[in-house]
Amino acid sequence: MNRAVQPELAFTKGQGAYIWDADGNRYIDYHAAFAPHLLGHNDPYVTDAVIAVLRKGASLYGSGTTELEGHLAELICQHVPAAESVQFLNSGSEATCQALRLARAVTGRDHIIVMQGGYNGWHNDVSCNLMTPLEIIGPRISPGEYPYISISAGVPREHQQLVHPINFNDLQSVEYVCQNHSIAALITEPVLQNVGIIEPEAGYLEGLRELADRYGFILIFDEVKTGFRHGIGGYATIAGVRPDLVVYGKAIANGYPLAVLGGRKELMDWFVHSEPSKRVLLAGTYNAHPVPTAAAIATIERLLMNGGEVYCHVKLLGQKMQEGLERILGGLSLKAVVARQSSAFCLYFMDHCPKDWHDLAACHDFGRDQQLRLALIGRGVYFFPTATKQCSISFAHTEDDIDFTLEQIQNLLKETVE
Ligand SMILES: Cc1ncc(COP(=O)(O)O)c(C=O)c1O
Repeated sequence: MNRAVQPELAFTKGQGAYIWDADGNRYIDYHAAFAPHLLGHNDPYVTDAVIAVLRKGASLYGSGTTELEGHLAELICQHVPAAESVQFLNSGSEATCQALRLARAVTGRDHIIVMQGGYNGWHNDVSCNLMTPLEIIGPRISPGEYPYISISAGVPREHQQLVHPINFNDLQSVEYVCQNHSIAALITEPVLQNVGIIEPEAGYLEGLRELADRYGFILIFDEVKTGFRHGIGGYATIAGVRPDLVVYGKAIANGYPLAVLGGRKELMDWFVHSEPSKRVLLAGTYNAHPVPTAAAIATIERLLMNGGEVYCHVKLLGQKMQEGLERILGGLSLKAVVARQSSAFCLYFMDHCPKDWHDLAACHDFGRDQQLRLALIGRGVYFFPTATKQCSISFAHTEDDIDFTLEQIQNLLKETVE
């Protein structure tokens, strides 16, 4: 269970940048519940929209569509170039699962490519090769692929044969796998954000697009973490690379359970294909539930307000955090770097920003990272207590929050380095 970490805390309240535990301790929260809280906990604009929709008598109908669903679909299609058509689901895992099924239906192929060090959800296709110890995975291979190393018991061995984990930032390995298997899809986070922040190298995402076109596989960007947190059009817009299918979740509804699968209309139309044997099943009792749908509409409205003030604020605070950390590190004899994408950052104890999982696993001081996180919790700053997990700044954070956090980090690092 990925929430079962030490110290075992029971939380009772979240407001803005803060969370409180059952003993009444307050923490500045950088975990943000694995990143959804871009506006902060219980953002008043989103909360009001949710209360209003409930008071209006909106319910779950399980038939047809709703005005709210149509409005959210229009908002997304208007602002996200990669989304010509969308479907709503409850979680990122459901959306990546559907994306892969759709890709298999359209291509008539079964094999998929995933990234070593990437995370795309809990289902059989993708619950593998995340933070795989080097003793298990062995040395970096390129061009080539890794065996499926499950992060869950219960994945059928036959199914594992269909999944090909390769290095992030490694186009040669994509080609290698495509030459040896009939690939339906490649799914990747455009920035690996489940092992900190690993940026795509210049030309990498463009290269994926080119190889998808050459080998005929569906390129799926999993923007569950990057989408909406880094910009309304997702990271695809920032990078200027268009995937065939794209998945959003987390920040799109600021903490409410909603995910989006979108993409090229001709592909998405397979969910309503006129030939039953080609139709892809998309089902879910709670899909497009009015509460998360209203929350997503309000979140996007808030993100669009006042010339994008939310993005400006979180970016400035991200910059302040990075500069502050770099100033602290400059005064210490410690190998460490800060990787950051806008409001998301990670402090790595190594001398360069990693380019893939093997680089990170071989060079990062996991013990020091873990120790710092645990000590910070004792001082009122909540970084998720697992080494390499990214930190997320919200619109509710203030400069004072960043200053307090930097002071705690400086004191703790000084104590352990000097
Ligand atoms: C990039 C990415 N994809 C998919 C998922 C799965 O989303 P969910 O936890 O909503 O099922 C996550 C969750 O952390 C994620 O970070």
